[in-house]
Amino acid sequence: MRLLREMPLPRVKPAGANPESHGHKPQPKATAKSQVMEFKLHPGGVISGEARVPGDKSISHRAVMLGALAVGETRINGFLEGEDALATVAAFRALGVRIEGPEEGELRVHGVGLHGLKAAGNTLDMGNSGTSIRLLTGILAGQAFDSRLSGDASLCRRPMGRIMRPLELMGARIDADAGDTPPLTVHGGQALAGIHYDLPVASAQVKSCVLLAGLYAAGTTTVTEPAPTRDHTERMLQGFGYEVRRDNDVILLRGGGRLRATDIDVPADISSAAFFLVAASIAPGSELLLTHVGMNPTRTGIINILTLMGADITVQDEREIGGEPVADLLVRYAPLRGIEIPEDQVPLAIDEFPALFVAAACAEGRTVLRGAEELRVKESDRIAAMAEGLSTLGVANEVLEDGIIIDGGRLGGGVIRTHLDHRIAMAFAVAALRAEDEITILDCDHVATSFPGFDALARGLGLQISTRAGGEDGEDA
Ligand code: S3P
Repeated sequence: MRLLREMPLPRVKPAGANPESHGHKPQPKATAKSQVMEFKLHPGGVISGEARVPGDKSISHRAVMLGALAVGETRINGFLEGEDALATVAAFRALGVRIEGPEEGELRVHGVGLHGLKAAGNTLDMGNSGTSIRLLTGILAGQAFDSRLSGDASLCRRPMGRIMRPLELMGARIDADAGDTPPLTVHGGQALAGIHYDLPVASAQVKSCVLLAGLYAAGTTTVTEPAPTRDHTERMLQGFGYEVRRDNDVILLRGGGRLRATDIDVPADISSAAFFLVAASIAPGSELLLTHVGMNPTRTGIINILTLMGADITVQDEREIGGEPVADLLVRYAPLRGIEIPEDQVPLAIDEFPALFVAAACAEGRTVLRGAEELRVKESDRIAAMAEGLSTLGVANEVLEDGIIIDGGRLGGGVIRTHLDHRIAMAFAVAALRAEDEITILDCDHVATSFPGFDALARGLGLQISTRAGGEDGEDA
């Protein structure tokens, strides 16, 4: 393990800590006619300093959900004040749960117990958040009342059959207005029974949905994973005093137990840190310390893959906080080389591929990704959206059904479309560090779903980024 060099590093305030934000409601969404935000990036720059990126999105969602279903008061620190997690907060308020905050990342959830939720008066708006709708549908399938869930244009294109099928096998009744996409109607009052479910895709959202429905099911619910996916639900259920067993690839719980309130510290989101791990790796002269980063082994594919590409990342001060491993990451510029990405790393880096594709574009030689068809059903089709943007910048690439081939080389400038996807916007912002011309990124409002304050933090660390109101919303709505 290498020691931090004795050089003073400028400190940047945590992006999530906005003293003016009381965050009782999600930020108003851009409507079909509203102006949207664009990023403008001057080429070049060096990344240096120290930063703690906002709280982990997956853990923030689960902390609210389990806190709401527990008996007693759950205090959450380091909560992500992003639109996705705030959509989960708003949904539980609508379901009758008193939630105070967030104020400077602290949230207090006054749990109502597993059977204390009340019918929401209106459709629950899950915004852009796949995690909110999929996990919440699992919980709502076990309630005595009906619910309706919807979201934005991106969410209303995403497949829900993957959760509807196992929930229906458990005895739930769920209707999708069209095909298998939201809006969804969940019919309450159904008696659920435990099932054994072999997940057809490696998906933590589907696994978590089934396990959460399993809390309301008679008997035992077991889930088998084709490959390990993030295990925050299992860890946190145990933190709330609920017994969950894992036997190799099988996860098991029994319905009818009880969750006891607890305190939760949310680590910084490795999926947000990923943009700066890549930024400092590709910009010559960079040195950056990212603090308090969540290092759950089901999430560290980004570090494994970048290291295989030749990145210089040192993991420091590894510790465990509230059942989740955490560390500080020191990253310095290093020349990267193209690789064949090992397929077993794909579920462990599933949200980090937009950033990794930019690393591949800046690497020497060819990078090949296969076995990643899941990228096609994220907030956008991330293979198509990234290929389009890379081609705009003049980076040679070939799209595969389940991945992409990228030949590293020179990056030009141009105008990038995000397809309403936060991670596409942030990935191309980082690409500007190695571009030869200006990059404009259209439609960047969705960055606030996972990384509020990204532009300010990125500017503080050396990215030459400015924002401006752009054209009308609805690029591909
Ligand atoms: C998430 C699981 C992943 C990930 C998403 C968050 C979660 O999705 O892409 O951003 O919190 O469970 P899948 O489980 O569908 O792969």
